[in-house]
Amino acid sequence: MATMADVARQAGVSVATVSHVLNGTRPVLPHTRQAVLDAVDALAYTPNTLARSLVTARTRSIGLAVSAISNPYFTEILQGVEAGALEEGYSLLIADPHDDPAHERKVVRLLHERRVDGMIVAPSPDPRELLGYLGRHGVPTVFLDRLVDGGPAPGFAFDQVCAENAEPVARLVTHLAGLGHRRIALVAGLPGLSTTSERIAGYRQGLAGAGLPYDERLVVPGNSEAAAAERATGALLSLPAPPTALVTANNAMTIGALRAVRARGLSVPADLALCCFDDFSWADLFSPRLTAVSQPSREIGAQAVRLLLERLDSPGRAARTVRLPSALVHRTSCGCPGDRPESSSGSCPEKGSDA
Ligand code: HPA
Repeated sequence: MATMADVARQAGVSVATVSHVLNGTRPVLPHTRQAVLDAVDALAYTPNTLARSLVTARTRSIGLAVSAISNPYFTEILQGVEAGALEEGYSLLIADPHDDPAHERKVVRLLHERRVDGMIVAPSPDPRELLGYLGRHGVPTVFLDRLVDGGPAPGFAFDQVCAENAEPVARLVTHLAGLGHRRIALVAGLPGLSTTSERIAGYRQGLAGAGLPYDERLVVPGNSEAAAAERATGALLSLPAPPTALVTANNAMTIGALRAVRARGLSVPADLALCCFDDFSWADLFSPRLTAVSQPSREIGAQAVRLLLERLDSPGRAARTVRLPSALVHRTSCGCPGDRPESSSGSCPEKGSDA
């Protein structure tokens, strides 16, 4: 294997010059630069980043721990993280904690042992021990999607990035109420996640704004996954007075809810109007096309990388939480006619209502 010294010899320059060309750390005359690049090519030289890490104590790698990476929402976040990291010359080590605190501790420890420079984590419903670990070891960390409270490690400043959750759900409920619905149900996510509690809070805000009472029988546990949501929706549809409209609090639960509706031979929106949290690329292929809240998932990932690199540059800076806007994509599963232009603001011209 060729070394940097071999490249320097072949190009007739110093090792320092080779290093400046390869790392872009100082301007180098064009013909010298070309001689170095030719030597790199001729000798098939590959920099040994492990050796560099021993000198710099930095690996230029980021650990990413995100549950449910097969969920399109998280896949898009991952794409945003990957693109942002690559642009800055960082590579990723990826793990899936499966929303299980014990598994989460294990994978985060493994990533830390690989000496990633920092970590981006979508925390599980109970991240207390995770916070303790990251705080004790002073691991530069950004949490995404789910927000966590300060945690048990004083002085451990971490950054967070997530989407708006409450307000968009309130808008869905307001919209359904504006269409005349009085029994609007919610299939809620995994308890313990901030996204779950914020979306429930938004549901309550929407009901209150429309002057509708909160009925706890209409809020059912979908646990953020399809099978539980299918059971929960089935239970809703079996109530003596079933809901006429439904809000599902994430994409997987939308799939489960649609299965339950189909199993009963019912149809959306005639028997049950449906509004969903999470848009996905085939949401407009469903019939009817799904009215959905779209999270800025790629941007969440990109922002997480920016926050992490900022913290690596200034470890002492104050903690920041960035909340990015979600958009309402108004289609027809809510019961609005389909033969009119879509509105990304969620307004429904027929009803003259905002959302
Ligand atoms: N959080 C936020 N949005 C989501 C999730 C989640 O865990 N899963 C699918 N959409």
